[in-house]
Amino acid sequence: MAQASLGERLDEVARAVEAIGRADAARLAELKTALLGRKAGALTDILRTLPDLPPDERKAVGRRANALKRDIEAALEARERALRETTRGGAGIDGTMPARHQWRGAVHPVTHVIDEICDIFHELGFVRVTGPEAEHEDYNFTKLNIPLDHPAVDEHDTLWLDDHIVLRTHTSPVQARTMERYPPPIRVVVPGLAYRRDPFDPSHSPAFHQIEGLCVDEGITFVDFKAAIAFFVQRFFAPGTPVRFRPSYFPFTEPSAEVDVRCQTCRGAGCPTCKRTGWMEIMGAGMVHPAVFERCGLDAERYTGWAFGMGPARVAMVRHGIPDIRLFYESDVRFLRQFLDQP
Ligand code: PHE
Repeated sequence: MAQASLGERLDEVARAVEAIGRADAARLAELKTALLGRKAGALTDILRTLPDLPPDERKAVGRRANALKRDIEAALEARERALRETTRGGAGIDGTMPARHQWRGAVHPVTHVIDEICDIFHELGFVRVTGPEAEHEDYNFTKLNIPLDHPAVDEHDTLWLDDHIVLRTHTSPVQARTMERYPPPIRVVVPGLAYRRDPFDPSHSPAFHQIEGLCVDEGITFVDFKAAIAFFVQRFFAPGTPVRFRPSYFPFTEPSAEVDVRCQTCRGAGCPTCKRTGWMEIMGAGMVHPAVFERCGLDAERYTGWAFGMGPARVAMVRHGIPDIRLFYESDVRFLRQFLDQP
């Protein structure tokens, strides 16, 4: 009886030797303890019973047990060496272990909105250009018909880098740079970051994205502007989405307007996202002021044009019903993960 069970136990140990050849680092440590562990190792146990066995049985079992022990030790050593060799730099990392996570990257929702907006205007013949974020005061203000003592300079709560250089407070300076550089007809969209000394709160971020649009040619009217924006809204939101133009004021456009679209969260019923107005503002805009043409070297008698400045993060909030702009700028993957599968 004792002999039969000893034989089985030896067979079992022999099978375990084969498993050593396939083990990863963790399994290898387990096997080592299970077989040779001082307290409860299977082979240690067998060797411990040897002195109690009848002499001839002791001899047979002892020979087999000792042979197995040599096999196990050789197999362990070979496997340890093999694992070390598959491991980078031999730093004790098991290169055979499966990775725990597979991270999937995705386009940030604000970048996604910027790309979509640029694509829609591309259909109308607009091309994408960019400009510097550290900008000269002439471009950020003066050429846009904003004198440096104008209250708008304070209103913008400008971040000055030195006496004459600012972190641009809007993407509008790229209007001036484009008009100075390229002759009309001009049709550009300008995505980029702008900066203001604003608090970081649910509707403000001191660094935020804008997209500027500029269209200059002979004979451009406010009707062209309304048609382009109506086209954009129907494409970006949904066909039939109501749009409205409200009179406004910017030093660099005359007349100026603010453009609202139907709140996408409540469809006009009134909700906290739209502060119960049923509308969401998506851009400031207007007809390019003649003084801006003149400061940028274009003939204001010959050319007319329109421009807009849109906040893509705000547009993304409107579209996805997101109540707090900071979510877009905090890079929390728990928030961003919901945009993994957007088309
Ligand atoms: N630059 C303006 C802003 O940041 C937006 C704007 C752009 C208005 C172009 C009119 C024309 O608020």
